[in-house]
Amino acid sequence: MKEIVLSGIRATGQLHLGNYYGALSKFVRMQEEGVYDSNFFIADLHALTTHPDPKILHNNVKSILSEYLAAGLDPEKSTIFVQSDVPEISEMFLLLNMHVGIGELMRTASFKDKARKQLGIKTDNDNDDNIEKEIIGTDSNKRVNAGLLTYPTLMAVDILIQHADLVPVGKDQEQHLELTRRFARRFNSVYGVEYFKEPANFNFGGNAVKVPGLDGSGKMGKSEGNCIYLLDEEKVLRKKVMRAVTDEGPKAPNSPMSEPIKNLFTLLELVSTQDKVKFFTDAYNDCSIRYGDLKKELAEDIIKVTAPIRERIIDIQNNDEYLAKAVKMGAEKARARASKTLEEVREIMGIKRFF
Ligand code: TRP
Repeated sequence: MKEIVLSGIRATGQLHLGNYYGALSKFVRMQEEGVYDSNFFIADLHALTTHPDPKILHNNVKSILSEYLAAGLDPEKSTIFVQSDVPEISEMFLLLNMHVGIGELMRTASFKDKARKQLGIKTDNDNDDNIEKEIIGTDSNKRVNAGLLTYPTLMAVDILIQHADLVPVGKDQEQHLELTRRFARRFNSVYGVEYFKEPANFNFGGNAVKVPGLDGSGKMGKSEGNCIYLLDEEKVLRKKVMRAVTDEGPKAPNSPMSEPIKNLFTLLELVSTQDKVKFFTDAYNDCSIRYGDLKKELAEDIIKVTAPIRERIIDIQNNDEYLAKAVKMGAEKARARASKTLEEVREIMGIKRFF
């Protein structure tokens, strides 16, 4: 029996270089290793927790699906599906929620973060545990939707309903995975069964890559507005890179790099050759570096990575028949396993049918 791999990306917009190196390229690698039963999906129900615009949701799903396929995910080799095409997930979500505490959900870092954003509360301190008061005590007409609170339950169901062994996700999802393991153990112990196994994170033995943004600090992220999208046109991409934040340049040989410069080198390491990285590192160390040259090379090398993918994305986006066929195949395979799990869960929980 092959180990089951499962991961997904929320359908909130186009994918950027951070998604590509952090997630997508790993998905493709896992698929190509050929030793896993690999499953990759588009989390459109999860997207509803923050992006409820019905006019763009489907397009977001479509662009991620096209990006999956353009990057090399292959419906013949992997199960590629849309979360909402597997209604068993929604039913099991309701069932699993009966064993999840609102306290543990409220203490989840991503919830505190996003809830505060929805309430418009600014705080840099995620150790601050006033979240219950902030939410219950709020007299504004802003509300935190319950879907945001139960986000980890839904994610746990995505994973458990497929009995996944390995879940390739970034550091920011580690806590959700920990909750998934906790819910699995709890279900087993409440019902005295050995039914769910505990899934593990997976990142090819290395650390999760953190792809920095172009604004000098932090990681690339849609909400930071510092992204290079796989679909960016060459002109746009060059402009973005040329505008990336730098500093005044090294003042003395071998000085430490400031964060914006380190970030540019991190990007260069992802897309360029060792030689080029060494060339610019040496130039930095002997103070002869010109950031304009560095950025030019960086932009061209990013384009070498993204241009062929971009072309394929555009082709695939225009091929509705192929898209439909890919997700139909995926939905069938994903549903087969999901409905078996759901039946067994209902049975374990004592839900029986009269007919
Ligand atoms: N929460 C994940 C993210 O934001 C997306 C996701 C939803 C997911 N369900 C999942 C990832 C199940 C792995 C497995 O990136």
